Amino acid sequence: MSNPKMRTAILISGRGSNMTAILEAARNKDYPAEIALVLANNADAKGLETAAAEGIATAVVDHRPFKGDREAFDAEIQSVLEANGIELVVLAGFMRILTPGFVDKWRDRMLNIHPSLLPSFKGLHTHQRAIDTGCRLAGCTVHFVRADMDSGPIITQAAVPVLDDDDEDSLSARILVMEHKVYPRAVALVAGGRTRVEGMRVIIAQTDEDSQSPSRFLFH
Ligand code: GRF
Repeated sequence: MSNPKMRTAILISGRGSNMTAILEAARNKDYPAEIALVLANNADAKGLETAAAEGIATAVVDHRPFKGDREAFDAEIQSVLEANGIELVVLAGFMRILTPGFVDKWRDRMLNIHPSLLPSFKGLHTHQRAIDTGCRLAGCTVHFVRADMDSGPIITQAAVPVLDDDDEDSLSARILVMEHKVYPRAVALVAGGRTRVEGMRVIIAQTDEDSQSPSRFLFH
């Protein structure tokens, strides 16, 4: 008998293109994560329709009735995750800051993707900031979540060139292509038990395939 797949929830706030990339990867019978739930903080999140059309269970925990009480909002999310037997949490464009208590509960079992080469450009407007700073390379990072925003041990990164005529739209489109490659890989590494966290470093157990195509970074 093969190992059971890790029951995984994807948390979204909007279009859900990273979610869609992970759902596609998870159709493969050998993929080590089963996407058991897609949860949004906003009933209008476009990704909810995509997930429902794929037959994935969906849930909405609207943050607005909590009126800024982040602890209560996170407690509600926690109870939905527990009710669904979730073992791994994947943040994919989830635009709420989570409380330290919640983050600690999911230590090394919660991933995020950020559209920059962390630790550069934490926060918003990452693409414009990379252009304005004159970076020649930009990219995206998948990391384990820690209480400080956009920090935490890095699992995988992908780099793309910044071209002289780039604007925010063209650069973000180039990075998004890479996000869709790197995030399903990172989820598979964690769900497949191939990652070990040592301080700020993530050690990845290598396979024969990795000698051709390493799983911890990608270049455009
Ligand atoms: C992505 O750029 C991701 O890096 C950032 O938010 C965006 C979400 O896009 N955290 P989508 O909802 O996955 O299409």
